Amino acid sequence: MKFFIDTADVGEIRKAHAMGVLDGVTTNPSLVAKTGRRFVDVLKEIVTIVDGPISAEVTALDAAGMIDQGRNLAKIHENIVVKIPMTLAGLEATKALSGSGIKVNMTLIFSASQGLLAAKAGATYASPFIGRLDDISNEGMPVIADLVTIYGNYGYPTQVLAASIRHPMHIVQAAKVGAHVATMPFKVIEQLVHHPLTDVGLDKFLADWKKVPQ
Ligand code: E4P
Repeated sequence: MKFFIDTADVGEIRKAHAMGVLDGVTTNPSLVAKTGRRFVDVLKEIVTIVDGPISAEVTALDAAGMIDQGRNLAKIHENIVVKIPMTLAGLEATKALSGSGIKVNMTLIFSASQGLLAAKAGATYASPFIGRLDDISNEGMPVIADLVTIYGNYGYPTQVLAASIRHPMHIVQAAKVGAHVATMPFKVIEQLVHHPLTDVGLDKFLADWKKVPQ
């Protein structure tokens, strides 16, 4: 499973990249707003840190505007993936951009039917937001599992990108059902590393090592 970091904070991206487990980055308008920086400046810096897919979201609501923004974003760097919301206009824009060789990540997906449409429109990635479904007492993970099955049934090349990850078990569960990618906040990447028995075990090894004649 590929690991993407879900942030526009270049400090976090640098730290995750240094861990050696990072395959790509996803951003969204809310994450960019938190940085206080110009979107284009943030993207230009991210592409120098990570050599992998970097999702950059359009903000237009009509298909022509999405296509225009998407083309401009794609010009910034070959690794930019245009992020487009799951709307009727979004499907039209996805079809057009994908048809001209620009990779698209369809975002704000909350059902398997929406995910199926993303694949039919030619999206490279479909992003079901599992945490936001869990937040409203709907199970998010079955959407991931359903889309892995559906894409497999028909040989769609679209990759299921588990998004809106809240905790390490989301990653484990997404991996078990075969998600191709998971995008997660830096905090979750850190949480994946830690286990109290690792800390206790290491302390004991180091304490015992002091008893070994040097
Ligand atoms: C996905 O690409 C989104 O940026 C993200 O995962 C949304 O997560 P949130 O529900 O934590 O905002």
